[in-house]
Amino acid sequence: MASASAESKSLTYLLFLLLRALPFAVLCSSSAHPAYDDAPSFGVAATCDAKAEPKVLRREEYAGGRIIDITHYYRADMPSWESDEGVGQFLWLPKSMKNGSLANNSEMKLPSHTGTHVDAPGHFFQHYFEAGLDVDSLDLEVLNGPALLVDVPRDKNITAEVMESLHIPRGVRRVLFRTLNTDRKLMWKKEFDTSYVGFTKDGAEWLVNNTDIKLVGIDYLSIAAYDDLVFPHLAFLENREVILVEALKLENVEAGIYSVHCLTLRLRGAEGSPIRCILIK
Ligand SMILES: *[C@@H]1O[C@H](CO)[C@@H](O)[C@H](O)[C@H]1NC(C)=O
Ligand SMILES: *[C@@H]1O[C@H](CO)[C@@H](O)[C@H](O)[C@H]1NC(C)=O
Ligand SMILES: *[C@@H]1O[C@H](CO)[C@@H](O)[C@H](O)[C@H]1NC(C)=O
Ligand SMILES: *[C@@H]1O[C@H](CO)[C@@H](O)[C@H](O)[C@H]1NC(C)=O
Repeated sequence: MASASAESKSLTYLLFLLLRALPFAVLCSSSAHPAYDDAPSFGVAATCDAKAEPKVLRREEYAGGRIIDITHYYRADMPSWESDEGVGQFLWLPKSMKNGSLANNSEMKLPSHTGTHVDAPGHFFQHYFEAGLDVDSLDLEVLNGPALLVDVPRDKNITAEVMESLHIPRGVRRVLFRTLNTDRKLMWKKEFDTSYVGFTKDGAEWLVNNTDIKLVGIDYLSIAAYDDLVFPHLAFLENREVILVEALKLENVEAGIYSVHCLTLRLRGAEGSPIRCILIK
């Protein structure tokens, strides 16, 4: 009963807010297209809230730090595989209000393994690609759930020996590996850097052989060290159970246990996709 009355109180308050906002809403909708600077103003448009210079709030954390964005935002100077030029322009505005369109409508073009992204089994196995094991076939249950963020030793790539030394218990199914890549801010450098830290063949095999990890995250463009590019991918993707998330933004986050939430685009036929990942404390 107490909660019902609290609810009705807050409904009354909501109604009060709505009524207060109403006169503005009426004024704002009175011009043909209130977002245009040259829209007919009827002498009131200048006071319309929609026309006030909006404040852009960019955040890495939400809910007082409880939700942490571990996705890199897309930038033209983000590193691109084996390139010194970065990603380059990936966003255009073919229809713009300045050019007389009713709305701004942008277009984008992006390699599917750009920035924070996911690899599907078809990335390194031709027969999986042909069988349709694309990003739209990945298990959302693996991509969402309890996860461990761990720091790996900074002086090595992720070998079997390193994996063993981490003592990740059985039952842990999602691990984000933070490496020297984060300290070196490699994702913030335009030039692709081949000396990034990644898994070696035996490191990947050790993980598959000895742990229950099904979601493997890392903080640069590839899960595999550059000098050992193919075999770690094969070891991870062969059983079609492990999902690889690459180029995560793991700076300014404490190591520990979180709930991870990652969602890909539903790109059928694509062996990679941009992915949005967050951690919840
Ligand atoms: C809309 O297009 C104008 C250029 O015509 C541009 O200045 C403005 O930033 C665009 N707005 C958005 C949201 O892209
Ligand atoms: C407006 O249209 C012109 C001509 O088609 C084009 O060159 C220009 O880039 C457009 N501007 C924007 C902001 O889209
Ligand atoms: C990891 O391997 C790369 C080659 O793939 C190498 O350049 C780099 O120095 C290694 N990093 C460490 C910390 O050993
Ligand atoms: C993992 O298991 C496979 C198959 O049993 C074996 O060939 C490989 O040597 C193992 N690798 C490691 C690093 O444990």
